[in-house]
Amino acid sequence: MINVIGLGYIGLPTALMLASHGVEVTGTDCNGDLVSTLNAGKTTFKEKGLDELFGKALAAGIRFTTEYIPTDTYIVSVPSPYDKSTKKVDPDYVVKAVGSILNVCPKGATIVIESTVSPGTVDKYVRPVIAARGLRTGEDIHLAHAPERIIPGNMVYELVNNNRTIGADSPVVGERIKAIYSSFCKGEIVVTDIRTAEMTKVVENTFRAINIAFANELCRICRHDGMDVYEIIRICNMHPRVNILQPGPGVGGHCISVDPWFLVGDYPQLAKVIDESMKTNDSQPSFVLGRMKEIMATNGLTDPSRVGLYGLTYKENVDDCRESPTIQLLDIPENDLAGSLKVYDPFVSKDLVPNQYHDLDKFLEDVDFVVIMVKHDEIEANMDKLTGKVVLDCHNICSLPGVYHL
Ligand SMILES: NC(=O)c1ccc[n+]([C@@H]2O[C@H](COP(=O)([O-])OP(=O)(O)OC[C@H]3O[C@@H](n4cnc5c(N)ncnc54)[C@H](O)[C@@H]3O)[C@@H](O)[C@H]2O)c1
Repeated sequence: MINVIGLGYIGLPTALMLASHGVEVTGTDCNGDLVSTLNAGKTTFKEKGLDELFGKALAAGIRFTTEYIPTDTYIVSVPSPYDKSTKKVDPDYVVKAVGSILNVCPKGATIVIESTVSPGTVDKYVRPVIAARGLRTGEDIHLAHAPERIIPGNMVYELVNNNRTIGADSPVVGERIKAIYSSFCKGEIVVTDIRTAEMTKVVENTFRAINIAFANELCRICRHDGMDVYEIIRICNMHPRVNILQPGPGVGGHCISVDPWFLVGDYPQLAKVIDESMKTNDSQPSFVLGRMKEIMATNGLTDPSRVGLYGLTYKENVDDCRESPTIQLLDIPENDLAGSLKVYDPFVSKDLVPNQYHDLDKFLEDVDFVVIMVKHDEIEANMDKLTGKVVLDCHNICSLPGVYHL
């Protein structure tokens, strides 16, 4: 039986996927409300294919609890934020979860850390917790790291089809954990050591963060001299060895806006490009705010309460708002418009910010200037409703005449 610890955006689909592929699974989360919701037969976030997968896992007998269960294998998928002052990984959630596992697990159990952690975290923070109990890693307790690559919005497909990395202290443990993931994963699963697995996951997200920062910087250079950044990137990407990502209003979520900081925190003298890239991405919402003010001035729009931000989530077609560029923009200390701006997102049913709307038509009725912060399918399907509005399109998805870009 596998005990999956942490049933959030990553742990829940992983637990469901294992259960629906013949593995006996108990899901554990310290959040009692979340566990009650799951036990009431409801999923806790919106994700394509998740409800169907949930149904299959329930039929296969998955259980949800706040308790840790004595068993031979644990998968830990708890948060791993970064400390905003040191930029280093905050290992507390992982350390606490491992400690709780050690309270109940038998000798010989394997703990698989799925949470994204900075290279060296298992050595620096996890092994000492095990040693402090008088247990020997590799004999009494086995360790593995199986970082997750899935993208919100396409998680169910990617869980099955992505390649994976498994780091373990020994090939035997690595192969055993690989066999568990192979129950559902059709991608290639590479077995390596733990530190390599830790580093590869952080490097993957760092590569994307730097590429986005490059696109954002190009966008600012092109804006400065009236060049079309989208056309320039499109043409450059026709080169067989160039693949530049698209500029946008900023970077959010739990991965690309977080994980690269781990390297800046641990290697401040070495991670220069990474540091600058993260600063570029983090300042992109300020760039958007500057564009908004320019466009308001050009169009004689003086009332900020007639300006609306479309989208509150950190990416399209998901309900996750963590680190979202819209929230970053509203939180800019010198954003004198923030208190007046209207905000709408079809995926966010709770009121998270002031002046939030839950109906597209009502939102559009109350604004003259729409800033497309998130490219949800909904707005792509309703572009004609923006006719007659001033539009700042931060994603280059709107083909209406006169639309402004970043
Ligand atoms: N969200 C993503 O897109 C994504 C993608 C790849 C990797 N990751 C990584 O996966 C990990 C989990 O991220 P997430 O987005 O699922 O986080 P999340 O916040 O959605 O879920 C974490 C869950 O862990 C629970 N939890 C915290 N401490 C616990 C404990 N001690 N015992 C039991 N439950 C506990 C919380 O209640 C929460 O439900 C992070 O390391 C993240 O970096 C996330």
